[in-house]
Amino acid sequence: MAYHKITLTVNGETEQIDVPSNMTLLKMLRERLGKTGTKNGCSAGECGACTVMINGEPVNSCMILAVECDGLEIVTVEGLADNGALAPVQEAIMESGGIQCGFCTPGVLIASQALLNRNPNPSEDQIREALVGNLCRCTGYVRIIEAVQEAAQMQ
Ligand code: FES
Ligand code: FES
Repeated sequence: MAYHKITLTVNGETEQIDVPSNMTLLKMLRERLGKTGTKNGCSAGECGACTVMINGEPVNSCMILAVECDGLEIVTVEGLADNGALAPVQEAIMESGGIQCGFCTPGVLIASQALLNRNPNPSEDQIREALVGNLCRCTGYVRIIEAVQEAAQMQ
């Protein structure tokens, strides 16, 4: 197996890492960098549990190879808090009851924050559209959507 040295930014920290050519970004984040907040639900681009931001855009990290991320900027759920203070979207989803089992939550938070970064006051339809790739089996989405609306007011 060929290995490649890549340099990328993860949650503001520069990381240099040797990765095999077939390693996904998801696997690298979890197994090489200990960023286990990013979940593996399906490994097939279907569930959104593995969503991270790449250069500000939400991406399924199970569907991109680590070597393709050379030079890019990654944000995982661990990177949303600021010096230990939760981001508004994190506070809002906890307070609204938008978390039940929590497995979808890291991906939902990343997709929601990416939306709020580009659109600070999204409509309900825009929130639903932004979360269309993030499956949640527990909540029925209503409280998640309320949390994103609440976070928009808090920012
Ligand atoms: Fe990546 Fe499901 S684990 S989309
Ligand atoms: Fe369980 Fe969303 S809270 S899948």
